[in-house]
Amino acid sequence: MEDFRCLAFNFLMFFLLSVAASSTDTHSKALLALKSEFIDDFGSLSDWIVRSGQNPLGKIHGCSWSGVQCDKNATIVIGIDLSMKRLGGAISGEQFHVFKELVDLNLSHNYLSGKLPIGIFNLTNLRTLDISRNNFSGHFPVGIFHLQNLTVCDAFSNSFSGSLPVDLPKLENLKFLNLAGSYFTGPIPSEYGSFKTLEFMNLAGNVLSGNIPPELGKLKTMIHMEIGYNSFHGGLPWELGNMSNLQYLDIASGNLSGSIPKELSNLSNLESLFLFRNHFSGLLPVELSKITSLVNLDLSDNHISGPIPESFSEMKNLRLLSLMYNEMTGSVPKGIAELPSLETLLIWSNQFSGSLPKNLGSNKKLKWLDVSTNNFVGHIPLDICLGGLLFKLILFSNKFSGGLSPSLSNCSSLVRLRLEDNLFSGDISLKFSDLPDISYIDLSMNNFSGGFPRDISKSSNLQYFNISYNPELGGVFPEETWSLPLLQNFSASDCGISGKLPKFQLCKSVLTIELNDNDLSGNVPESIASCHALVRMDLSYNNLSGRIPEELAHLPSIRILDLSHNDFNGSIPDKFRDSSSLLLLNVSSNDISGSIPENKVFWSMGSSAFAENPKLCGAPLEPCSGPLAIFVGKEMGKLELILILCAGLAIITTILIAWIFFARKRSKGKWKMVCFTGLPPFTASDILRSFDSTESKETITPLSASIFKAVLPTGIAVSIKKIDWEEQRIRMISEFITQLGSLRHKNLVRLLGFCHNKQMVYVLYEYLPNGNLAEKISMKREWLTKLKLIKGIARGLHFLHHDCYPAIPHGDLKSSNVILDENMEPHLAEFGLRCLQQLNEDRLPFSSTTKGGEFNNATEEELWMDVHSFGAIVLEIISNGRLTSAGSSTQNKARDLLLREIYKENGISSPNSSQEEVKQVLDLALLCTRSRPSNRPSMEDVLKLLSEIKPEVKS
Ligand SMILES: *[C@@H]1O[C@H](CO)[C@@H](O)[C@H](O)[C@H]1NC(C)=O
Ligand SMILES: *[C@@H]1O[C@H](CO)[C@@H](O)[C@H](O)[C@H]1NC(C)=O
Ligand SMILES: *[C@@H]1O[C@H](CO)[C@@H](O)[C@H](O)[C@H]1NC(C)=O
Ligand SMILES: *[C@@H]1O[C@H](CO)[C@@H](O)[C@H](O)[C@H]1NC(C)=O
Repeated sequence: MEDFRCLAFNFLMFFLLSVAASSTDTHSKALLALKSEFIDDFGSLSDWIVRSGQNPLGKIHGCSWSGVQCDKNATIVIGIDLSMKRLGGAISGEQFHVFKELVDLNLSHNYLSGKLPIGIFNLTNLRTLDISRNNFSGHFPVGIFHLQNLTVCDAFSNSFSGSLPVDLPKLENLKFLNLAGSYFTGPIPSEYGSFKTLEFMNLAGNVLSGNIPPELGKLKTMIHMEIGYNSFHGGLPWELGNMSNLQYLDIASGNLSGSIPKELSNLSNLESLFLFRNHFSGLLPVELSKITSLVNLDLSDNHISGPIPESFSEMKNLRLLSLMYNEMTGSVPKGIAELPSLETLLIWSNQFSGSLPKNLGSNKKLKWLDVSTNNFVGHIPLDICLGGLLFKLILFSNKFSGGLSPSLSNCSSLVRLRLEDNLFSGDISLKFSDLPDISYIDLSMNNFSGGFPRDISKSSNLQYFNISYNPELGGVFPEETWSLPLLQNFSASDCGISGKLPKFQLCKSVLTIELNDNDLSGNVPESIASCHALVRMDLSYNNLSGRIPEELAHLPSIRILDLSHNDFNGSIPDKFRDSSSLLLLNVSSNDISGSIPENKVFWSMGSSAFAENPKLCGAPLEPCSGPLAIFVGKEMGKLELILILCAGLAIITTILIAWIFFARKRSKGKWKMVCFTGLPPFTASDILRSFDSTESKETITPLSASIFKAVLPTGIAVSIKKIDWEEQRIRMISEFITQLGSLRHKNLVRLLGFCHNKQMVYVLYEYLPNGNLAEKISMKREWLTKLKLIKGIARGLHFLHHDCYPAIPHGDLKSSNVILDENMEPHLAEFGLRCLQQLNEDRLPFSSTTKGGEFNNATEEELWMDVHSFGAIVLEIISNGRLTSAGSSTQNKARDLLLREIYKENGISSPNSSQEEVKQVLDLALLCTRSRPSNRPSMEDVLKLLSEIKPEVKS
């Protein structure tokens, strides 16, 4: 019975299949052939199968398949829409001649690659062709002119290269053309001026060059044209003013120079004109104001000079006016304030002067005003917030004066308020309870008075608050200061604030606290423990007292802690030794006693961080002499002192020799020395003998490698790092160290050799006397010096990543691992040691036997991490250490904002060539610290980008 059923079933299946197969029509066959070329990992075309029976002769099976559209009688296929089906693979196009009647073909939003098949040009009835958002590459094939009915050609975001297809203009019905976002090179063909019906053209974001052909002006039907983000030559042809239907023109970032042609004013239908980020110079043409249809005008980031023409007040539809980053002068014409639709006025970084028009804002539409970094004077216009829509008010770095009220007393729409670096005075009369959305307030560097605002804790969205350098402010901090739930940055340096530090309740998100140069007294509350995210705290120059709370040492992210110039007493909590994040603890000029915890972090901070504490000792200060100190106190003779010292030394030496002897005996095996360079030969015992006893014995903790300095008997100073190893890994690790030792690059610290027994290995580096970058990060440097530093670090890292084979991830790149030589040339230290550590622990992210130069994934990940770390160091360098938290303080900030902070840090005020370089370097750093590793550039790219930044040689 079972058998029979099975047999019957098989027979049935055979029957059905043979019927289906025999009746499959040519269209369905072609569709199936097409399907077989796709990589369809997600089964998007799983319903493309031939079912039996339902199809009377003459009809097409495929008409019921997803994405296939047929006519009513199911006899011809008129549309194929495979968009967003997650299809990959390359297509041959051999089937396309079957679909002569096809009208719409949509392959967009897939992962198709390879060449665009010329078979597509057989689809002579095609009206729309959409292959956008794929990865088609190679030249765009010739032949599209066959598609005489084509109205839409969308190839946006592919990887086409070579020149733009010249036969496109032969398409007499084409209305929509998008070839943006590929790698097309060469000029825009002058033939592109002969489209008969084209309304939309986008060629932006390619690698186009050459002059913009004036013939484009003949495109009378054009409505929307985008050709920016290319690298054209020369200026903007005046003929473009003839495109009489044009509503939208965007040639931003097109490398254009010369002046803005006044003929553009003939574009009487134009609504948006974007010419930002070019090199346009000269005056703004007065004629532009004739374009009364204009809604958005952005000419920022050029070299335009002169004033805003009075006539601009005629552009009654203008909503956005952006002229920032130019070289414009004069005052803002009254008429600008009267523009009835104006919402956004961005004119920062120019040389405008005078006061803002009195009635600015009275149009009740104003949302965003940024006039920062100019020479404006006068008060904040009274009506600035009249419409209740103003959310960004950015006035910093001008000479504005007067108070905040009444202009801002009732401006509850504010989100960002930046008034720093002006001459504002009076009370901080903001009612924080009426500012529900405010997230960023900077009032620093003004003359505010009347006490610290009492109700600041009411602003539940505040993230950044800076009121520093208002020396007349005075008052005390309210109890609830730290209960702002989103606060990250709190800065109130030099504000004449007295009283105690409020308890740190709920300060979960605070990253930075700056309260230096005030009159604060009392203790640092132990509740500081709740500030988990704290990275930087500056309490220097106050009258704070009591002990340094141990809780500070437990903060997981603390990097910089400045307690200097106070009255702190007691000792430095030993727990600071365990802090893995700490870079600087400055306790100078207090009454701290005892010894500095022994740890290389403390040594690297330099003695200035601990100076002027008479009762404090230990490295980097004078060593603690223990009982000797008492003798010294009792006015001992010099000779006796020396005798005692010698005796002490003798004892220490004896212990040391005994220790070495003991060490050798205790079956740790003999010490072996491997030297890499042509130094005068030295032996293992030379090295062992050269250790300063306290340093060597105390700081060696298993598996946490530490570095110390030693002077060899030959007088050569070396840095030594100790690593414990497992006996069975000795061979592998020594191979790896030998490989590291063979690396020679001027930006790497040289490895001199290593000395090992069966339990541990001492790795010897050249000793560089000038300390590391972390110690010196806040040092004011010339911009050129910084650039040199950045380039040096990049070259070192590039060498490890791209010149070593297989690549060696640094693994622990941070500013304390960048050592400076006497010429301030950076050398990377500790490269590859993380790998070594992992080799040691048998977690093998890297194998020195990797074949074919293939990185395994773990290695690749570490390379990306290196790039991120590099970006973080660059940020540190260009901000003098202010942007330290590895990107997290930068993530929420707009680039422009960062940029201005960095300009300020570098004392760059007026636009000049360094400003441009700073911009490029910042962009690079932001690129490197992108959150998705694969979005970061390789060190190869980094070096290329850096080499384009050529500092001008000043004669
Ligand atoms: C559909 O078929 C019918 C008869 O078979 C014919 O009269 C009609 O013209 C066809 N329509 C189309 C659109 O082909
Ligand atoms: C192609 O499909 C995408 C996604 O479904 C759609 O957004 C697009 O408009 C289509 N293209 C054409 C030319 O219709
Ligand atoms: C169109 O298809 C035919 C085969 O039917 C082929 O010979 C011809 O070269 C194709 N034309 C184009 C432009 O691909
Ligand atoms: C183009 O469209 C017209 C009108 O819709 C039609 O008559 C013609 O057959 C189509 N095909 C070609 C190749 O012109």
